[in-house]
Amino acid sequence: MASVVKINVLSVPPDMREELERRFAGRAGMVESQDGFEWFELLRPLDGTDRYLVYTRWRSEEDFQRWQSSQAFQRGHAQASGERPSGPPQGVGHGQGPAATGSELWSFEVIETAAPK
Ligand code: HEM
Repeated sequence: MASVVKINVLSVPPDMREELERRFAGRAGMVESQDGFEWFELLRPLDGTDRYLVYTRWRSEEDFQRWQSSQAFQRGHAQASGERPSGPPQGVGHGQGPAATGSELWSFEVIETAAPK
């Protein structure tokens, strides 16, 4: 069965880029242990757009759906959803709450792949 690619497209204002990248650098790291997980990459735009791509690849649609409704997904999005972690208070715009002003989910099926020989 073909793998599926799920790309979350995040619109990130210039002053929030650093914060977004910091959050991903400190991400939960739980997706790695999810059944059917195959790949993750955070892609920073180089062409002047404000859209970061969160690239993920899964064995199947069902595996992706299972992760999305899991506690691992919730924990992996604790900061993004505005939940307070423990630790010192943070400055305006750099505390909790979304670093992105919008998001859009793209879905693809993998029909061809290649890797170096
Ligand atoms: C409203 C929608 C979403 C927003 C604003 C968002 C934003 C974020 C942010 C800021 C993080 C860094 C961790 C944190 O701050 O808690 C994160 C983690 C992550 N996001 Fe999203 N996200 C959204 C939905 C999705 C969806 C639909 C996918 C599927 C492609 C996805 C894939 C990931 C992955 C793989 C991680 C790392 C989780 C881990 O390490 O376990 N996100 N997201």
